[in-house]
Amino acid sequence: MWNNKTIEWIDVELTSFCNIACPGCLRQEKKEQVESILNKDIIKFENLKRWITPKEFPSLKLLNFCGSVDEPTLHPEILNIVKHFKSFTDVNIASNGSTKTKEFWKELGELGASVFFGLDGTDQESLAKYRIGSNFKKVQENWRAFIGAGGNATWQFIVFDHNEHLFDDAERMSEEEGFKKFRAIFSHRGGSGEVKKEVEEEKEIRCKYGNQKRIFINHSGAVLPCCYLNSEALEVLATRKRKTKFGKIYEGAGGILANNLKYNNISEVIDGEMFDLIQKSWEWPDPVEKCWNTCKVKKRDIFIDKEI
Ligand SMILES: C[S@@+](CC[C@H](N)C(=O)[O-])C[C@H]1O[C@@H](n2cnc3c(N)ncnc32)[C@H](O)[C@@H]1O
Repeated sequence: MWNNKTIEWIDVELTSFCNIACPGCLRQEKKEQVESILNKDIIKFENLKRWITPKEFPSLKLLNFCGSVDEPTLHPEILNIVKHFKSFTDVNIASNGSTKTKEFWKELGELGASVFFGLDGTDQESLAKYRIGSNFKKVQENWRAFIGAGGNATWQFIVFDHNEHLFDDAERMSEEEGFKKFRAIFSHRGGSGEVKKEVEEEKEIRCKYGNQKRIFINHSGAVLPCCYLNSEALEVLATRKRKTKFGKIYEGAGGILANNLKYNNISEVIDGEMFDLIQKSWEWPDPVEKCWNTCKVKKRDIFIDKEI
């Protein structure tokens, strides 16, 4: 299912740093387990340049800076990173927007990256219900500087019980402010009274990332099939405990030394035992729990992923 020559989309968690505290984020939900690895590490630009090249990924179309615990714009070299990768692929950043200065965001807009602004409210009060610690005024100044400089902005609105009534206002505001797209996510995470969509299940796994020719690289350099397994990989990294089937596969397949771009090249990982055993587990009745919970044939998050 995965081959580095056919991969079209890579998600990268650039750092383990974030400036806000969303209750549904792994940083908060599993605080006790993962705290020891938070706000400690970044992927060095020189490593990223070595790991992701047109030679290793000749079909690459999109580099998406969006991890499970990061705020990508906090990376000290993010502008140079965007500049470098824009020369051979599209680049998208998922951000809370409440970082740095207008000047930074203007420069980012000029570089031609696209940005998903995580805006689940239309003013300080509604935004801060989930994006705890975010400053609406600052985000507004930043998106205006970014869009004013030609940046391609998407307004990403996660629908919760507390903000459902603001959906139409937010969409209208996104158009008035010059956002190119409005993207709604129906949240699947705990932590803030989210709207859930329940649909019938079948006994089949259709791997979302695999079908999208997509992989995930976390801030420690680990290569994983998807962002969903990253939450378990980070817990393993922080606690050294392997409780789930994925944890056991990861350990059995050599753990960090066999599945990390610091020690392996990309094809060694993708063609290696971990990716193989995860896929083999999909044969009923004993799939990796996370694969089953996330990619069983069932509708869950509703968003337009095919065309970031
Ligand atoms: C942990 S964030 C990291 C990126 C960045 N800091 C941000 O805020 O977008 C990764 C992604 O998860 C999304 N996210 C956060 N809370 C969520 C929730 N409750 N349900 C679904 N997606 C969520 C974010 O909006 C973002 O697209």
